[in-house]
Amino acid sequence: MTDSPRAANLLAQLEHLNEQQLRRLLVEHLTKQKLGLYWEANAIERDAALNADVVLPRLVEEWSHSPSPQPSPTSVRGSRLPSPAGGRGAGGEGEQFTHRNLIIEGDNYDSLRLLRATHAGKIRVIYIDPPYNTGNKDWVYNDHYVGANDRWRHSQWLEFLYRRLTLARDLLTPEGVILVSINDENRARLELLMDEVFPGMRVGSLVWRTKDSTSRTESNLSEVHEHILVYGREGFSFLGSSKSTKKYKNPDNDPRGLWNIDPLTVNADRFERSGFFYPLQNPKTGLWYPCDPDRVWAYASELRIKNIDRIRSGSMEHWIREGKIIFPKLDEERVVTWQSIEELREAIRKGDVPVTPKRKKPLLTEDTPDLGFWVGKPVGFGRPGFKKHWNELNSHVNPVCSWISRANEQHDEDDLHVLISPNAGAGTEAIQEILGSRTFAYPKPPGLIQELLRQATQPNDIVLDFFAGSGTTGQAVLELNAEDASTGSAQVGQRRFILCSSTEANSKEPDKNLCRDVCAERMRRVIQGYGGKAGYTVEQGGEFAYLQLDKVEAADAHFEIDAAHAFQLLALKRLGVIRAASAGAVQRLGRVEDCELLVCNEVTPDTIETLAAWPQRHGAARLAIYSTRPKTLSEQLAARGVEANCYSLMDALLSGQRGSAA
Ligand SMILES: C[S@@+](CC[C@H](N)C(=O)[O-])C[C@H]1O[C@@H](n2cnc3c(N)ncnc32)[C@H](O)[C@@H]1O
Repeated sequence: MTDSPRAANLLAQLEHLNEQQLRRLLVEHLTKQKLGLYWEANAIERDAALNADVVLPRLVEEWSHSPSPQPSPTSVRGSRLPSPAGGRGAGGEGEQFTHRNLIIEGDNYDSLRLLRATHAGKIRVIYIDPPYNTGNKDWVYNDHYVGANDRWRHSQWLEFLYRRLTLARDLLTPEGVILVSINDENRARLELLMDEVFPGMRVGSLVWRTKDSTSRTESNLSEVHEHILVYGREGFSFLGSSKSTKKYKNPDNDPRGLWNIDPLTVNADRFERSGFFYPLQNPKTGLWYPCDPDRVWAYASELRIKNIDRIRSGSMEHWIREGKIIFPKLDEERVVTWQSIEELREAIRKGDVPVTPKRKKPLLTEDTPDLGFWVGKPVGFGRPGFKKHWNELNSHVNPVCSWISRANEQHDEDDLHVLISPNAGAGTEAIQEILGSRTFAYPKPPGLIQELLRQATQPNDIVLDFFAGSGTTGQAVLELNAEDASTGSAQVGQRRFILCSSTEANSKEPDKNLCRDVCAERMRRVIQGYGGKAGYTVEQGGEFAYLQLDKVEAADAHFEIDAAHAFQLLALKRLGVIRAASAGAVQRLGRVEDCELLVCNEVTPDTIETLAAWPQRHGAARLAIYSTRPKTLSEQLAARGVEANCYSLMDALLSGQRGSAA
């Protein structure tokens, strides 16, 4: 316990307690533990990334991607998308390009704190593929790789993820969902952690087959799958797909419309539901049908159950009257009448009796109760069924299947929507093709994420990946937007991406910048078009802002936050967009309905003059102004007869970031 500074610190604190206090602490410890996951959060080395600083975005224009020069019309995918709200010139003459997609460089603990201040409740889908804690140098904690034999390996990983997932939780919309990739070994640990952070939100998990080839292992169990855990807020559901009416017909012109034949039996045996086990007669033809003793009829007979009205499902006779029971056609089935019990026994011996449709199990045997009943009666060899009408189905949507298939896999489930993905190797191939080398290990295939997003997003949603690595999620978002346009979908794709990626700089490679050189570079090439593939127009999301993060202690915020920080943080917060701040004491953030959003850094006669003329010049009914001196500004504008809501700039910048102490 003393081999970590944190543990030593705890020990030092306990030394001051007397015996009674120690006993109380022990009782508390023993009685307060709850069912669930336990990890040694207090004993491990503290995550150096945790901090309570104010996080401020800084736009790095030269690493961002704006449409300059505009791609030629022939080099981009054909588009019939409307212009997004933004783009060049949205704010009027002289304004900078407005970005809607973000790449955020840095530790995602900081990125998530920024997003909690700007995007709380606005993200529809979070997809993450965190380091898997394999022990094979796949993950850095406090600047060192966490190896397989690290005493605190699992606790560090859980604490690391716990801190970040807790921040991410606040970002989801009421219909939002988080999808997390994980390997088989760490799935159980992660799932318990997810239960802790997202209580009551578990939707389920998907299984993705990652490779075709097998490899010999010590246990000789070759791992060829990964999991994707799905946790959604109350309003979330996968889109599924429309059920096909293929199997539904109406050969008898039934006024109730299309129908299909459902089994007339249920999964209960004759001992469990004795009242449902009886010979069934077709009242029109007089033919008799034996009941399957292992799967009795779905409806009881009025002749056998006294208080049939109490049975909510209705009696067999009721459904026959309703025309819902389909008996085999007389001319299409075999009918036999056994004249004596010996003749029937002989037929049973030979197996020449009615059988179940699939497994061909005889329905009359020596054990059939009251076997003599079947002598002298015409017995039908077909099976009656239930007429299920299309308009009675609970849902016309097929649910998503938890098994992710590959395109070459056979699947004939008509009532399930099967997701399809390439295998893991396709991720590396994509990187190789786009960047010309395998510069990033184990990226996910774009097709996998695209398929998940196809099911989990609507065309205007924001998608966040805060372990973005090489940026696969960004590519998947753009591909999906373009797909919407090409398939003529009713709503055109305007999904946006937010990718958070670390630099991966360390003491050996201090200049490494994975975010800039792999993630942003990949997105730039995808947007421009690569390997003969067309690029993306701005309308299709072919742009991004590259943000670095500056951090200041809350106490110093008044001195250290500059005009550009203020402008960009507010643009993100109020409009979800970012652009370079322009010069001048009055800056226009944008417009919400008839209200102009402005930042005013200095209150001078000149700025008052500019602001007083603003509503008329820009055709706005109202002004909302963020200022360092909101009271003075409000009074001076009121004196000029201008209606303006003036807010404290500092309060707006700090809101959402207060109380984020680690
Ligand atoms: C398994 S990879 C994700 C790969 C990604 N899905 C792709 O297809 O490229 C995990 C990524 O998380 C990044 N990472 C680890 N710790 C991080 C942190 N604290 N902040 C941001 N990124 C981090 C690693 O640099 C690595 O690129």
